[in-house]
Amino acid sequence: MVEIQENVSLLPYNTFQIEAKARYFAEINRKEELFWLFAQKEAAYSTLPLVVLGGGSNLLLAKKAQANETVVYPNLFLKMNILGKEILTQDEDSVLVRVGAGENWHHFVEFAVEQGWAGIENLALIYGTVGAAPLQNIGAYGVEIKETLVEVEAFEIESQKVKCFSNQDCQFGYRDSIFKREAKGKYLILSVVFRLHKKPNFRLEYGAIQEELKKENQSDPDSLTLKAVSQAVMRIRNSKLPNPAEIGNGGSFFKNPEISQEVFQKIIKKFPDLVSYPTENGRKVAAGWLIEQAGWKGKRVGQVGTYPKQALILVNWGGAKGADIWEFATQIQKAVFEKFEIWLEPEINVLT
Ligand code: EPU
Repeated sequence: MVEIQENVSLLPYNTFQIEAKARYFAEINRKEELFWLFAQKEAAYSTLPLVVLGGGSNLLLAKKAQANETVVYPNLFLKMNILGKEILTQDEDSVLVRVGAGENWHHFVEFAVEQGWAGIENLALIYGTVGAAPLQNIGAYGVEIKETLVEVEAFEIESQKVKCFSNQDCQFGYRDSIFKREAKGKYLILSVVFRLHKKPNFRLEYGAIQEELKKENQSDPDSLTLKAVSQAVMRIRNSKLPNPAEIGNGGSFFKNPEISQEVFQKIIKKFPDLVSYPTENGRKVAAGWLIEQAGWKGKRVGQVGTYPKQALILVNWGGAKGADIWEFATQIQKAVFEKFEIWLEPEINVLT
């Protein structure tokens, strides 16, 4: 059985700290509960579109309110709380570990680092849950989870069967996977299997990590530890990203756009300082740089703004409405387009 609650405040479930309500809301603690839930064919919520909540750290509740009323989403919201970490197999080189979708991502990174398991130490302090991580192939400081992810176990809503997606099946891309495209809304992620390594292969190509390690006299590769790397990442993140417990935000709001070589050549002539790096198909441009150059870094309209230390982060300075944040984001898209002819795509999941 699952307790279905009604008119539940979503404030604790979104890191943008937007006040909105879910008409129906349920917490899922075990996968068996899903079989029960989807068997309730007569229930009022049975035909409503689902919204799946992980940590709510990549979600903007952007629906417009009627006059001064609180926004109510007519949907059934499912908060995925399935916990557990289980070693499936291990040998001297690596460990295969299954992690419940509801586990906190950062706590899992800390756990892996403590065990001496390498591969995700650069991904410390990313907010959200393990189950949400594959959706957008979370990444930071030169590492993405597609490098250690082996399999995703998911509940298929239509067939009510549990299905496994191999790494390849997930069709990972930059902040992208099949779960954001063809499989969107069709599956509930139950657990994720990772292969982590017992011998670290430190990934320090990101200049900021090297500088941070140097500051702490930890730059000697022979004595470097997973803990030192993860703590360096945490210090970098803390120094430029707002803590959502204090300032509402959803991390990077837009993706870093990828442009063709042709477009790049055109832009670089006019803007020689453009921050970008090569990719397979062209160049990836730093969206934060574009926003800053368009004059929007640290800008504030009412209770919405860009974070003064990182223009790619939109923040709720307190009591902002989701629709206002979305409107502000649209203004940024237009301003960047006017200046650079590049249209920024949201990285965040916008629920209107
Ligand atoms: N920049 C500016 N002005 C700004 C912000 C950035 O000029 O206001 C420039 C920086 O100087 C730097 C470049 O843009 O040269 C890149 O900035 P940064 O290193 O802060 O990384 P990012 O590209 O803005 C991406 C991810 C982050 C991830 C970092 C580190 C995306 C959309 N974002 O940000 O991920 O932590 O790299 O790897 O890819 C997230 O997805 O929520 C997230 C925080």
